[in-house]
Amino acid sequence: MKKNRYLKVSVVMGSQSDYKTMRLTIKILKVMGIKFETKIISAHRTPERMFAYAKSAIKNNIVLIIAGAGGSAHLPGMISSLTSIPVLGVPIESKKLKGIDSLLSIAQMPKGIPVGTLAIGEDGAINAGLLAASIIATQDDKVKKKLDNWRIKQTKSVKRKPK
Ligand code: RP5
Repeated sequence: MKKNRYLKVSVVMGSQSDYKTMRLTIKILKVMGIKFETKIISAHRTPERMFAYAKSAIKNNIVLIIAGAGGSAHLPGMISSLTSIPVLGVPIESKKLKGIDSLLSIAQMPKGIPVGTLAIGEDGAINAGLLAASIIATQDDKVKKKLDNWRIKQTKSVKRKPK
């Protein structure tokens, strides 16, 4: 990982409607003290925006991309095809197929262009933030400490007996 205080994670989503899910990723990144940017980019409605974004991502100090998309969710795979920056994909829960369409579109990338796929919807969005923190924690002690504390808190929150 490049050592540079301007390095950041980029959180992109296919539509404003994805924000209610992707805001959970953002919430985790904030808790972990990770620098990030947010963008709306649609692979099919703004393909030129997507191309320009992906092609300039390295120059813009982005070290990890988290892309949320729903339906025939080609955004994470298309971005991954245009840059060597690792891409995590969050399948947004779609209305018609409950996100199965999004999940398969993101997870079933043919060999050669990978996308690290998370679970459908809110769980995936939260885990994308946590996975980003785990990756960054390998190089950043402050993030590691925050992530370790977050996990300790989570462990403590599990009661030993039901009420
Ligand atoms: C996808 O279509 C987006 O990622 C979103 O999940 C879905 C619906 O978009 P809107 O019709 O709400 O803009 O491209």
